[in-house]
Amino acid sequence: MFWWKVGNLVSLTIVLSDSLSSSTPCSRRHGLCTAPWKKWGGSCYLSTQKPLTYDDARGACRRLGAKMAAPRSDQENDFLASLAQGSDIWVACTDRRQEGEWECEGSQDGQGIYTNWKMGEPNNAGSEGSEDCIKIRRVDKKWNDIACERMFLAVCKRQFVGSCFTTNNEGRLEVDSCL
Ligand code: BGC
Ligand code: CA
Repeated sequence: MFWWKVGNLVSLTIVLSDSLSSSTPCSRRHGLCTAPWKKWGGSCYLSTQKPLTYDDARGACRRLGAKMAAPRSDQENDFLASLAQGSDIWVACTDRRQEGEWECEGSQDGQGIYTNWKMGEPNNAGSEGSEDCIKIRRVDKKWNDIACERMFLAVCKRQFVGSCFTTNNEGRLEVDSCL
């Protein structure tokens, strides 16, 4: 479930089918990514070429058939940082709907979301008056809430290309597709 606030008046809910967060551990999902997408875990990743606002970055990823990534582990957080080559990176989470209630793209209902806040963050501070989006800080890979109008790189995350399959604990074929 992903809440998206449009303007100041209209509020609508978009329910995203979230096959990226299937219950199958990523290490047991097998498939292909086409260049320049990079394979990591059970998905394909690609950084935007230039810094964009949060909304523009989210739109850029969606036009590629992907979602802006919101890391779910320290390992994935580090991987995103490595793709962005020394830049700050958006995390696909916002508390625009309700201050202090962070909702992440693709987060699973009923499950706690992964966070990696810098000490003292989120503080909703800054000269813009509100900080409803999140970036991964280049310097330490920790998260800071920041104004959504700032411009950073984003990493897009998409499913494998074509068919893929999953294996069980014994390494045997479990299902014939993970789409
Ligand atoms: C603060 C951050 C804030 C940023 C805005 C920093 O000095 O520590 O919390 O988001 O300024 O530019
Ligand atoms: Ca902040």
